[in-house]
Amino acid sequence: MSHPTNHRPAGSNVPVFDNTGKMAAIIIGVTAVVAGSVMGAANPFLSNATSSQGAQIDTLFSLFVGIATAIFIIVQGFLLFSIVRFARAPEDEEDGVPLRGNTKLEVFWTAVPALIVVILSVLSYRVLADIERPHPDQMVVEVTGRQYAWEFYYPDYDLKTAELHIPLGRQVLLKITSADVNHAFWVPQMRIKKDAVGGKITTVNITATAPGVYPIVCAELCGAGHAVMRSQVVVEAEPTFQIWVQAQLGAKQRAAAMPPDPKTLGRQLYNQYGCNACHKLADAAAVGVVGPALDGIGSRAADIVPGQSAEEYIRTAIIRPMDFITPNYPPVMPGDYAQRMSQADLEALVQYLLEQK
Ligand code: CUA
Repeated sequence: MSHPTNHRPAGSNVPVFDNTGKMAAIIIGVTAVVAGSVMGAANPFLSNATSSQGAQIDTLFSLFVGIATAIFIIVQGFLLFSIVRFARAPEDEEDGVPLRGNTKLEVFWTAVPALIVVILSVLSYRVLADIERPHPDQMVVEVTGRQYAWEFYYPDYDLKTAELHIPLGRQVLLKITSADVNHAFWVPQMRIKKDAVGGKITTVNITATAPGVYPIVCAELCGAGHAVMRSQVVVEAEPTFQIWVQAQLGAKQRAAAMPPDPKTLGRQLYNQYGCNACHKLADAAAVGVVGPALDGIGSRAADIVPGQSAEEYIRTAIIRPMDFITPNYPPVMPGDYAQRMSQADLEALVQYLLEQK
């Protein structure tokens, strides 16, 4: 039997906004505003962005973090308050009061989030429009991702490099594509991330705001070498950048005028065709670990396949890698080197590897 004297009717008979309720609402509201402002201002999740676009994105993100923090505290605060305040009394076995909703409350919690979403949409659109706006002295760099390396082409200078150099403070338009599977071009410190898709050109602007060297990461799983598909952005003052360009152009002209000795050429080809990304080779300063190391390959290539000379073995391993995968390594080497390399490059590379004793 229940004890009528202990009986406390649930639900409607406990006033929600009595003094305790009002006090709780004030405490929760003040905490939400203070914590939201602190989190929004401090932006504890990110280091400083090193591009002007990144700085704008971070400002927006800080606002999102602030608002999300305030909403989190309001929702969790009232949840906790309700759990404590409206808990069932120990011997109360009665059903709760059938509530039919509260129109005022529903209008309030629909209108406020809708307003927040509209405001954030407008602000986001303005930031997006601003960071996509081309600047008159913009420089174009074409970026190509391939398993497993990045390649940069400067049409203004007819220059191809494996490292991205950009002048400080000047807007650079990156035209990004892929030579094979999907990759994603990501410079975390600049807040720039864009898909690299074969047959398509995606674009993104960067304007560097701090000199330095920042990692470029591939952010789309593209095969066994995905983790090593890295490069870097070197941000330098305009004069230093121009000196770098001239040095690259000079090296290119010298190479064209006077063919390098076989060893230098071999090293160049080894890195140019991305062998270095997967195959360790001390002579070419390559440290890749996806495929077998090639130090000393010239001494051991003969008779790996019975009856095949070292030269035949190396040539076949480059142009038809799937014919004999070295045990314990993933079968991921691209099979299109016969199309990508000229006959002269292929032979030069084979001769270079043969000399690795
Ligand atoms: Cu390219 Cu992951």
